[in-house]
Amino acid sequence: MLVLGIESSCDETALALCDEGGVLASVISSQADIHALFGGVVPELASREHARLIGPLFDSLLKKAQLGDDPWQRINRIAVTRGPGLLGCLLVGVAFAKALALAHGIPLIGVNHLQAHLLAADLENTLAYPALGVLISGGHTHLYRMDSPVDMTVLGRTIDDAAGEACDKFAKMAGLPYPGGALLDALGKRSQADPYLFPRPYTHNDNLDFSFSGLKTAGLIWLSNHPEALFPPGDVPARQRLDQASPELCLAAASFQLAIAETLSIKARRAMETFTPRCMVVAGGVAANSVVRAEFVRLAKEKALPLFIPRPALCGDNAAMVARAGMHMALAGRCHRLDLSAIPRGQAIPEDWIPCAAD
Ligand code: KG4
Ligand code: ZN
Repeated sequence: MLVLGIESSCDETALALCDEGGVLASVISSQADIHALFGGVVPELASREHARLIGPLFDSLLKKAQLGDDPWQRINRIAVTRGPGLLGCLLVGVAFAKALALAHGIPLIGVNHLQAHLLAADLENTLAYPALGVLISGGHTHLYRMDSPVDMTVLGRTIDDAAGEACDKFAKMAGLPYPGGALLDALGKRSQADPYLFPRPYTHNDNLDFSFSGLKTAGLIWLSNHPEALFPPGDVPARQRLDQASPELCLAAASFQLAIAETLSIKARRAMETFTPRCMVVAGGVAANSVVRAEFVRLAKEKALPLFIPRPALCGDNAAMVARAGMHMALAGRCHRLDLSAIPRGQAIPEDWIPCAAD
């Protein structure tokens, strides 16, 4: 089964073609440099960029995939991220997907972006169910019980900032450009972490939710007490002059990431008390973080659990994960009608799929 995946929920425009064997072709364009000028994603600019880029990117995907004279004879499903995300951005991808589905008579599938992140791990591995899913991105921090690729239950979530958001905001307060998560990762590698520098927030309770806003405040207080640690301004992009970072900032970066990683693993360990997972999946942009990856390797070893973390290129937003999630929906006999709605962040994704015979 060949599935076209379309992703436009935030600031990456991405398209991919995947079959059961994996990724056939994939294209992606990031708007990070545009939004860096404003210190964060500007929704209106983001949706305009998606509208500008999605057509040409689709043409280059078809060129890359070399599907022959009539690619539409080969494509079985069109899967698109329907939410959660920025509404104007989602609408660009959803409208594009609907147009292709209508023009070529191919079933349409709306994909939950968060579940797609977890299924990025399924592109290169065979997951065992039930699985514990740890989804850590710029907008979300969710723990899931995954009973199958199409049946996932949220066990816990952040009540304020997401893990990636906390990293990006700490980085911004430290003088680094948006999105600062990957820069913190690079700086942290230059120092040992001090485990006592920052708290493990919202862990002294018995629930599975997260709260990272207090950690962000602790970061702000530390930075205001250490003004000498701030990253110096300059015309050259920060990632090309990381040598200018102070040892204090590298120490803070390493310690901040350790606080995030240990907080995540404390709650993941607690989630394992609610059911017996057969494997653990860690996914989303923050799963690219080296400290987080090392912490979950440690936890998986301790629990003797198979651990699946997508390679870093598949941790952030991409369309291969959307195609994979769509493929699983199709194999479960599900698709959507052409009136599929886009669902913004904060609203539940409806179970409004209709039965659709697998090919
Ligand atoms: O999953 P994603 O690409 O987009 C959302 O759905 O939000 O995640 C983006 C987030 C950003 O906050 C970014 O700073 C963070 O992932 N991120 C990282 C790293 N790479 C990306 N955070 C920490 N360390 C990294 N290496
Ligand atoms: Zn994402």
